[in-house]
Amino acid sequence: MSRIPLLAANWKMHKTVAEARAFAAGFLPQVAGLAGVEIVLAPPATALQALGEALAGSAVALSAQNVNAEASGAFTGEVAAAMLADVGCRYAIVGHSERRTLYGERDTDVAAKARALLATGLRPIVCLGETLEEREADRTLSVCEAQLDGSLAGLEAGHAEDLVVAYEPVWAIGTGRTATPETAQEVHGFIRRFLGQRFGSAGDSIRVLYGGSMKPDNAADLLAQPDIDGGLVGGASLEPESFAMVCRSAAKA
Ligand code: 13P
Repeated sequence: MSRIPLLAANWKMHKTVAEARAFAAGFLPQVAGLAGVEIVLAPPATALQALGEALAGSAVALSAQNVNAEASGAFTGEVAAAMLADVGCRYAIVGHSERRTLYGERDTDVAAKARALLATGLRPIVCLGETLEEREADRTLSVCEAQLDGSLAGLEAGHAEDLVVAYEPVWAIGTGRTATPETAQEVHGFIRRFLGQRFGSAGDSIRVLYGGSMKPDNAADLLAQPDIDGGLVGGASLEPESFAMVCRSAAKA
């Protein structure tokens, strides 16, 4: 089945409201009319509302970088899925490796967040990936399988259309060291088979993104792989020109 490639910009802890608005002003004209690709921007929480307003009327969708699994209550510093929907989010990233390693997020937390998003009509981008140590110990596929199993717990085939998975090898994030297209494809193919076993034919609609030092000069080769359905882009998404170039290579792939 053909899946529309999805390119998502993860700005992490970068950009003020003014900087997010300036990005939109520079970026939108560059991707206007770009067919065959879906584009998502994930700014920090403080810029969600303003960026959502700047994207209104365009085909570019808004994403959060995190969410709390609870609907409301005494959770200081946290934001609920309905609050993200309220400011115009369509997506939210969950289980990013930085949240797993720096903030102790476990697979069970990630799955609860994904379920909360789906229950609110939002689309989770569920991240997973092995560390360098795990890769060198030949544990890549078993680590990814365990993360998939745990992070997708409680999700059903009916959710598949709204679900996105992102494979981000930790050793490739922010290091400039990209997985080769073949190395990435090997894991993407494994994830694709896992999704088929878990969700049956509905799993075919789930897009599996690659993340980790994706940039204009390597995006086309990665996106040409049969099981790479888009990208989750950090550093190269901070400038309108470079992220637009990545989006254009997806439209061509
Ligand atoms: P870089 O593109 O900066 O390596 O970051 C990848 C990432 O973590 C996206 O979520």
